[in-house]
Amino acid sequence: MAKTDEFRNRASACEAADDLPRSPQEGEMIGDVILKRYSRREMMGGTLGVVAVASLFGPSLLASSKAAAEESYDRFAFQELDAGVDTDHHVAPGYRARPLLRWGDKLFPDSLPFDPMKQTAASQLRQFGYNNDYIAYFPIDGSSTHGLLCVNHEYTNEELMFPILKERQDTTGFKDMTAELVDIEIAAHGVTVVEIVRDGEDWKIVLNSPYNRRISPLTPMTNDGPASGDVRLQTKNDASGKQPIGTLNNCAGGMTPWGTYLTAEENFHAYFWTDRRDGENKPSKDLGGDQAASYARYGVPGLWQAWGKFHDRFNVDKEPNEPNRFGWIVEIDPFDANSVPVKHTALGRFCHEGAETTLSKDSRAVVYCGDDTRGEYVYRFVSKGRYDAGDRKANMSLLSDGTLYAARFDADGNGRWLPLSFGAPWLTKEFGFDSQADVLIDARRAADLLGATRMDRPEDVQPNSVTGKVYVMLTNNDKRKADQVDNANPRTENLFGHIIEITPRDGDHAQDNFSWKILVKCGNPHDPRGGVDAMWNAATSDDGWFACPDNACVDDEGRLWIATDQGDNWARTGHADGLYGLETEGKRAGTSKLFYRVPVGAELCGPCFTPDRETLFLSVQHPGADGTECLYGFGRPSTFKNPATRWPDFRDDRPPRPSVVVITKNGGGKIA
Ligand code: FEO
Ligand code: CA
Ligand code: CA
Repeated sequence: MAKTDEFRNRASACEAADDLPRSPQEGEMIGDVILKRYSRREMMGGTLGVVAVASLFGPSLLASSKAAAEESYDRFAFQELDAGVDTDHHVAPGYRARPLLRWGDKLFPDSLPFDPMKQTAASQLRQFGYNNDYIAYFPIDGSSTHGLLCVNHEYTNEELMFPILKERQDTTGFKDMTAELVDIEIAAHGVTVVEIVRDGEDWKIVLNSPYNRRISPLTPMTNDGPASGDVRLQTKNDASGKQPIGTLNNCAGGMTPWGTYLTAEENFHAYFWTDRRDGENKPSKDLGGDQAASYARYGVPGLWQAWGKFHDRFNVDKEPNEPNRFGWIVEIDPFDANSVPVKHTALGRFCHEGAETTLSKDSRAVVYCGDDTRGEYVYRFVSKGRYDAGDRKANMSLLSDGTLYAARFDADGNGRWLPLSFGAPWLTKEFGFDSQADVLIDARRAADLLGATRMDRPEDVQPNSVTGKVYVMLTNNDKRKADQVDNANPRTENLFGHIIEITPRDGDHAQDNFSWKILVKCGNPHDPRGGVDAMWNAATSDDGWFACPDNACVDDEGRLWIATDQGDNWARTGHADGLYGLETEGKRAGTSKLFYRVPVGAELCGPCFTPDRETLFLSVQHPGADGTECLYGFGRPSTFKNPATRWPDFRDDRPPRPSVVVITKNGGGKIA
C-alpha cells in the first residue's frame, strides 16, 4: 500500500536481553509435511474443506521437487515478457489477460450500473469494492471452472474515485471531504464473495448466486480467543467487547485447508481520528490515557482518513477502545452468506499483511503472518487443536486457541520462534501486561521485549507445501540505518527489498527452531547508482529482475510466484510492477522471470491459480496512482507522458479502475 510510506515508525526503544537457546542445527531441506502424512485420497475425502486442500497442496509432487533440485532447466515454461512502463497491462506471449471484475461492477441483480459521477454509499455496497487485493478461489464441487472468488478491498484513493476532488486529501487536511464521500469510501472497503463460472475462453459473474456477498466496515462480526470480551475491546455500543462492527484495510489473506477465507486487517491505525492535535494533522502526544504506550507503538490515531470527522467510533476522543477492535485476522465462511465473520484474537493484533495456513507434522494448523511496517516482525501461530479432514465445523475453531510466536533471525543462519505467552519472562505485570489479552492486543510490544528481529517491512509469508520451506517477502525499508543492519536485513536504506527462505527444523512447521537464508536481494543488478547491491542468479534477464516483493503464491508444482509493489519507484527502475516466476531449487535458485505487468501507477496483488492451473487471477490495484499525479481520469492532466496504449475501459472522463484480471492460455491448457 503506497500510503504505508507515510507511516512514522514509532518503534519502541525497548530492548531486552536474549535468554532463549539458539539452534546450531539445520532443518531438513525437503520435507512435504502434508504429503508425508496424508494420502491424496485422505485429503480429498472431506466435505467442503477438500476444495481448499486441493488448491493449497496440489498433487503429490515431492518427487518432482527433488528432481528439480538436481536439475538446472527453466521450470517456468513461458516466453518472458518485455519489462517496461506504459498505460496498459501486458502478459507473456501465448496468454490472454483481461479484467473480470472492476471497481463498481454489479454483484447482485439489483446492483445499480457503475457511474462514477453518481456514486452513492448504497450503490457501492451492492457493487465490487475499490482497490482489490488478495484473491482466493474456492472450487464448487472440486471444479476449476466453477467456484467462489473472495477478494479483499484494501483502501480507497479518494483523489481518483471522486470527480469533485482535485488532490489527495490526507496530505491537505481533508478539507474537501464530506460525510457523503466518506460513506462511499466506507462502502468501498471490505471483502467481496462472488460466484463465477468459466464460459469458453472467458469467466463470468453469477449475479443471482446465493453466495454473493459484500462484507464491509459496517458488517456485524464477532471475536474469539483470549482477548474476546476484554475490557480493552469494550465500547459504548458494545459492552460485551465481543461484537465488533466491520473490517477494514483488508490487504492480503489466506485460504484454510478446511475451505474458509482469512482476511488480514493491515493499516487499521490509519482510520482513526482525533480533534486533539499539536500541529497540522499531528495527533497530540498525550492521547490514549493508560493506553498511551499502545497508541504510540501502533501509530494510533493515524489520520490517513477523515472517517472520524463524521463517525464517532473512528474518533479516539470519543471511542478510545475502537482501535483495539481492528488489526486482527478475520475468518469468513464463503459458502454461507449468512455466516458471521470471526476476528481471531489468538493470532495477535498488528498490521497484518496476510495469513497463509499449512499443517504441522501432527496436523496442527500453522499460520504465517507479516506485520507490514518498517522494522516490524514476522509471526507464526500454531493451533492447540488438530485438523480433521472430515470435520469442517471443528476445524473452524482451530484458530481460536493456540500460541503466537515472533521470529528471531540469528546471525549464523539459524532462527527461533519466540512464544508470546503471558507469564513468560518479560510478559508480566511488571512490564505492563495484565493478561494474555494484553499480550495479544499489544503483540508488537510483547515481541519487542522478547528480542524478535526487526525486519524490512514483512509482507506475505508464504509456506510451500511441496518443499516444506517458507518464503518471507520483505518489501523495503528506506529508513534502515547503517548501524541497524543485521544478516537478515543487510542493506541500509533498503529501497528494493529482499526475500528470505526459512527451512523449519525436521520439516515441521510446529518446530521452534529453523534455518534461514536470503534467496534474492531485489532491484536492478546493473543500476549504476550506489547502494543497490542486488543479488540474483546470473540466469536472470534484464526483464526478469524485480523490486519490492509483496504478495506470493505457490502453484501445484511447488513453484513460487511473486507480485510486486514499488510505489513510485517504477520511475527509477523503468519496470512497472508485475508477476514473476522465481526459481527456488537447484542451480537456478534465485532466477526470476517476468510473466505479467500492470499499467503505470498500479501495484500487483493476489496471485491465485485454479486447482487445474488453467486460470490465474490477479489483482491490479490503483492503476494511475503511484507517481502519476492522477492519471487522466475526470480530464485531469498527468505527469506520465507515454499513453501509447490504454488500460481497458479507461477514458478521459473517468479514472482507470482497479480490477481483478483473469489470465488463460491461448487455446487452453496449463499456465506455464
Ligand atoms: Fe497492503 Fe502490505 O500491503
Ligand atoms: Ca500487500
Ligand atoms: Ca500468498
